Amino acid sequence: MTRTPSKWWERTLFQTLASFSRAHLLRIGIRTNLFEALRQPKTVNQLTQDSQLAPDLLQAWLRAAASHGLIRMVRERDRAYQIDGLAKWLLETPDSRSLIALIEETIEGYGPLLERMPDLIKEDARPEFGSPAESRRAAEISQLVERQALSALGRIPGVRGARRLLDVGCGYGGYLVGLLSRYRDAHGVGIEQDSEVAEIALRNLQAADLSRRSEIRVGEFMSMDLAAGFYDLILLNNNLHYFAPSIRSALFDRIFSRLVPGGIFAIQTAVVSDRAAARLMGYSANTAVFDLYLRAHDNLYGLPDLGELHASLLAAGFEAVAETAFLPGGSARYVWGRTPREDLAGPHA
Ligand SMILES: C[S@@+](CC[C@H](N)C(=O)[O-])C[C@H]1O[C@@H](n2cnc3c(N)ncnc32)[C@H](O)[C@@H]1O
Repeated sequence: MTRTPSKWWERTLFQTLASFSRAHLLRIGIRTNLFEALRQPKTVNQLTQDSQLAPDLLQAWLRAAASHGLIRMVRERDRAYQIDGLAKWLLETPDSRSLIALIEETIEGYGPLLERMPDLIKEDARPEFGSPAESRRAAEISQLVERQALSALGRIPGVRGARRLLDVGCGYGGYLVGLLSRYRDAHGVGIEQDSEVAEIALRNLQAADLSRRSEIRVGEFMSMDLAAGFYDLILLNNNLHYFAPSIRSALFDRIFSRLVPGGIFAIQTAVVSDRAAARLMGYSANTAVFDLYLRAHDNLYGLPDLGELHASLLAAGFEAVAETAFLPGGSARYVWGRTPREDLAGPHA
């Protein structure tokens, strides 16, 4: 067996620290609008002309950002720089807003929490999740998987025929927009406990011209008045971890009772997968840290154990419980079940 040389580990450590700095350099460039300004070549003088930036720090940031491949020097003569590589892609990709929210969350959300982790592990009191900024970032980041998730939903038997939809914890309303745009005779209700997030969902539905077929209700799902036996499809996207394991049986019973016979309940959750595709794409490591992050809050809970989740759905009365995976290595998936159909249910069955 050959031993990994010490130089290799040293390099690995420096690369690890460099990626920490790179995340910060990215955030600085976004927050100060420097990346935006550097869409065209600019010198330090041009960059400081109409702004209040400290020239020495700006100069040092430019050099650091260039050494990380985020910008590049395009003219030696007057030391003009232009945006490049990862930073350029980040600004131009359709998922730009969500990815920027992910960087913000990593630094402003994960950073302070991970700093406290040595004490939290020693049983210090855990912080509460849910400041306006945290809620906004959570709703923004969840949108990253929306396209793949919507197409996975379409593969769940019965979803395409669903006409009365309920999205629990709908965030910015992207799933309602996606489903109602596809299914022209469908009607959707979104429930969202954060009023600012709900306001954005409302605006997104208005912008998509879907107000007539949708409704956003602000409030907490467990205590909200909802018609029984009414919905064809109920969604719980990226928020099972908001519900304590001790109330999940009540949660699933409540959802069961609001569905029509043959109605579908679909839970979208991230999964810590150690499959090669998940490791290669970085999903494995990121999801495992996400689970740590969730558990370190007083009012959030870890990612579910899939075996337990199946058992809980079956115990609530759902049948045909199955999974539809949609990120590499099954790092995100729908766990779904159906209420018994009328012809098979009840005493006359
Ligand atoms: C991570 S976000 C996901 C948003 C959206 N479902 C998505 O996947 O894009 C979770 C959302 O669920 C909402 N939420 C959590 N528990 C809730 C509850 N008991 N009732 C209503 N909304 C809830 C949160 O306020 C938050 O906006």
